[in-house]
Amino acid sequence: MSAHPSQIAANAASDRLPVTLPRLNEMKALGEKIVMVTAYDFPSARAAELAGVDMVLVGDSGAMTVLGYPTTVPVPLDEMLMLAAAARRGLKTPFLVGDLPFGSYEISDEQAIATALRFVKEAGCDAVKLEGGGPTSVARAQAIVNAGIPVMGHVGLTPQTATALGGYKAQGRNAEAGAKVAREALALQEAGCFAVVFEAIPSALTDEVMPQMSVPVIGIGAGPNTDGQVLVFHDLLGIREGLGARFVKRYANLLDEMAVGVAAFAEDVRERRYPAPEHGYSMPDEELAGLRAALQAH
Ligand code: KIV
Repeated sequence: MSAHPSQIAANAASDRLPVTLPRLNEMKALGEKIVMVTAYDFPSARAAELAGVDMVLVGDSGAMTVLGYPTTVPVPLDEMLMLAAAARRGLKTPFLVGDLPFGSYEISDEQAIATALRFVKEAGCDAVKLEGGGPTSVARAQAIVNAGIPVMGHVGLTPQTATALGGYKAQGRNAEAGAKVAREALALQEAGCFAVVFEAIPSALTDEVMPQMSVPVIGIGAGPNTDGQVLVFHDLLGIREGLGARFVKRYANLLDEMAVGVAAFAEDVRERRYPAPEHGYSMPDEELAGLRAALQAH
């Protein structure tokens, strides 16, 4: 399971070039898998940087994973911008994508462009992502691309509109629904998206659509044959309760480890084992004598 620590150290020390759009296209052309992970703050971004991933997404999944909202729907734009700016400060190399939250791009092309500009200017993102491949999302994607900001599309399960999709469940599982997902992916590509996320769709549907995709496709629960894969940081590292979706593979159980660490601290404090002498600061004897004299004088 584990990457060799020397590889992580090498990534830390390396002067790898920043990942660019031409590099992502090159990776697709060469059949090199593109690795994307979400990050929402400085330490998760540092982990992504040190691991040497190609792309980081400040996903609106952060609404749930780090901000504690019940779904991605309520997260305000300003909170997403704060998460994205923190991730930016932790990154040098991966291509950084900011996720446009629900309600921040649907109303008009102007609204979508204004929101995307904030992700680039205020948070330092390289690109933005928006959900859905219906006429509204496609129009907004095209408007943002025309404004000079790269856009990543997202089809299949789109959590912002999960209610309309019938809940958090796989999409495109019959011929009609599968054809709709395929049409949406192609429409986003046509609109100028530089890449598209396929989420929670049958692997066979992915395999049917891939030959028509000239831009990189990043999958999550879409089978092995996309150009790359993405997972949510907190899912893959187990920084959450519960198992999550079927497509999640867990590489660590950090929430348990965190709780064990905090519980050990609590026990040390209660049993008077912490702080030990080595955690304190000393004072020369003569200074202490002077201090006592000064305190007595009062
Ligand atoms: O918000 C998110 O984390 C996402 C990924 C699952 C693609 O949209």
